Amino acid sequence: MSEQNTASQRSLNVLVTGAAGGMCRGINKRLGNAGHTLVCVDLDLERCQAAVDELRGQGITAHAFAADVTREDDVERLRAAVKETVGEVHALVNAAGILDRKMLLDHSVESFSCAIDINLVGPFALIRAFAEDLLAANWGRIVNVSSIAGTTGYPYPSYAASKAGLSNLTRSLLVDFWGTGITVNSVCPGVVDTPMVIQEVRDQVPNKVPTGKIVDPDEIGALIAFLLTDDARSINGADLVIDGGATQVFRLFDPTQG
Ligand SMILES: NC(=O)c1ccc[n+]([C@@H]2O[C@H](COP(=O)([O-])OP(=O)(O)OC[C@H]3O[C@@H](n4cnc5c(N)ncnc54)[C@H](O)[C@@H]3O)[C@@H](O)[C@H]2O)c1
Repeated sequence: MSEQNTASQRSLNVLVTGAAGGMCRGINKRLGNAGHTLVCVDLDLERCQAAVDELRGQGITAHAFAADVTREDDVERLRAAVKETVGEVHALVNAAGILDRKMLLDHSVESFSCAIDINLVGPFALIRAFAEDLLAANWGRIVNVSSIAGTTGYPYPSYAASKAGLSNLTRSLLVDFWGTGITVNSVCPGVVDTPMVIQEVRDQVPNKVPTGKIVDPDEIGALIAFLLTDDARSINGADLVIDGGATQVFRLFDPTQG
């Protein structure tokens, strides 16, 4: 880590999964603008490389890697490749995920397991692979991108169960990192302006979200950028809900109807 930086503004090597996705447009940009080097990882190398090219065009240092986070061999290969190309990783942002819009009777065990693999086993595999490096440095940041769907009941059970599992994995890991400078937190976004969100949900935002606004990916990036600082060292094991207040209220009437 650069000694020129103040304690609260270290320049880190940050590995971001799902880096070609909609939310990572905001996350990558914010982290890059904070002076971090980005290790961008996605299943889709072509889109990941395009995202990296765009970041480089903005003066951000970024590298693209392909990996399927659900495959242990792929993650191990990734760890070795990153070490050789970029060096030690100081922070992990687990943002790779899928939203499978199947309700109970549409699911098979296979499709349910697939969502659990990507949304929960993937982050576990990443954290497991890099844990020893973080422990050796006695400092690190892990941020799991969960969802408000993991905090309440939700129509799509594989998504809700995987995100609830991810939030509880987050809390459980505090025991493993006890007494170190490593923190583990979950960010739980509400409705974020990405292609994952269908028009029907966007249309409901004025009625369901107290701010009346969809969350911008840049806001998620700003929160994660703060979590990577030393100023955030006491935020540990949190589910940081960023949803415009949507989960805090239940409206029985339509506010747009007066
Ligand atoms: N968009 C929202 O409103 C919203 C709300 C709450 C939480 N989230 C969560 O935020 C994260 C990012 O969402 P998004 O909107 O950017 O979705 P997105 O579909 O745009 O991006 C997800 C990315 O993950 C990658 N990916 C999928 N499986 C992978 C695997 N096995 N290995 C590596 N990469 C893989 C995809 O290629 C894609 O680029 C997800 O975890 C999602 O569940 C999104």
